[in-house]
Amino acid sequence: MVRKLFLLFFFSTAISFANAQQLAPTPPMGWMTWNFFGENINESIIREMADAMVSSGMRDAGYHYIMIDDGWQGGRDNKNNIIPDPKKFPSGIKALADYVHSKGLKLGIYSDAAQLTCAGYTASYGFEDQDAKTFASWGIDYLKYDYCYAPGDSVTAKTRYKKMGDALKKSGRDIVFSICEWGQRYPWFWAANAGGNLWRTTYDVRDSWSSLMYIYEINVELDKYAAPGRWNDPDMLIVGLRGKSGPASDLGGTGCNDIEYMSNMSLWSIMASPLIATNDIRSMSDVYREILTNPEVIAINQDPLGKQAARVISRDSLDVLLKPLSNGDYAVAIMNKGSKTKKVALSFSELKLDGAYEIRDLWQKKNIGQGTQWKGDVLTHETKFYRLKKQS
Ligand code: GLA
Repeated sequence: MVRKLFLLFFFSTAISFANAQQLAPTPPMGWMTWNFFGENINESIIREMADAMVSSGMRDAGYHYIMIDDGWQGGRDNKNNIIPDPKKFPSGIKALADYVHSKGLKLGIYSDAAQLTCAGYTASYGFEDQDAKTFASWGIDYLKYDYCYAPGDSVTAKTRYKKMGDALKKSGRDIVFSICEWGQRYPWFWAANAGGNLWRTTYDVRDSWSSLMYIYEINVELDKYAAPGRWNDPDMLIVGLRGKSGPASDLGGTGCNDIEYMSNMSLWSIMASPLIATNDIRSMSDVYREILTNPEVIAINQDPLGKQAARVISRDSLDVLLKPLSNGDYAVAIMNKGSKTKKVALSFSELKLDGAYEIRDLWQKKNIGQGTQWKGDVLTHETKFYRLKKQS
């Protein structure tokens, strides 16, 4: 009997792990409403964004999810089914999901493990099974599940997230589960067991270099917890926001320069982070389009080995990150956190890489030399981003 129970437990755990791997084998990529639009969203914006994902090349670069964040809800009907705000989404979410799917994209939605969401809208606590079924019936592919207004202790958090994780599994549809309790209860230890495919590791990102560095310093330490199907989520990319609009700007984000936005993309890519843009891609300039869609940079993020880079050097405001890749290559990021240009000489033996390597610059998209070291200047807040291929 005990043996049978053990086998049952073993196989059900193995099966749910296999599902998690299939649902998010590489870090999810997409676009999310929150940091540009805040609560001011509606179905026309989402449709326009779906069109822009295609015309800008974002979809073909790998950004497949469009996520509706907080502010879509309109309460519950007389059967307690959650409903969208009829003014913002007059055609309903199902019709919107059909449209998004017709463009070769997927649709995400947002709720919270309490009675209200962070922005004060109707949430899912006590209605987990019913809401999961509703989301599945609409054709939802991804749920971001927040934690405002919920009790602070970890036991409750684990229970509430597992309740929704189980509800999603029973919903009849594959729905990626994104856990958002801001890293406060160390979700890297338990979120995957609750059914999570990714979990936020920090509080919200702002559109500023200091915010990026606050998040980076926490997330970079968590490399050993990431794997296919289970990712550390350091929040949205802020590339292209330019301090213009939305919570990431209003709440203290003044914008970054283009070098800093490239660092955001390089660091999130090498940390195997979900790549979730939030700028207005309908009107994005070529500069931001190229930063967000660089195929060689995205290939590092989406590498099937699914390793998050380890920080191998951190000294004098210089950080070096190393990520092994599935074909035996390595990605290396060299970041200058300081306020002045740095002259750097990096011997690959310091990274425990022996022998000589061909060095490919992922931003310039060209090979820049070969050997046993890299030497050069790194500008303030710049991240050099290379792929190293072993020379035979
Ligand atoms: C929290 C989350 C954000 C966003 C808002 C919505 O702050 O961390 O990412 O979803 O709620 O209200």
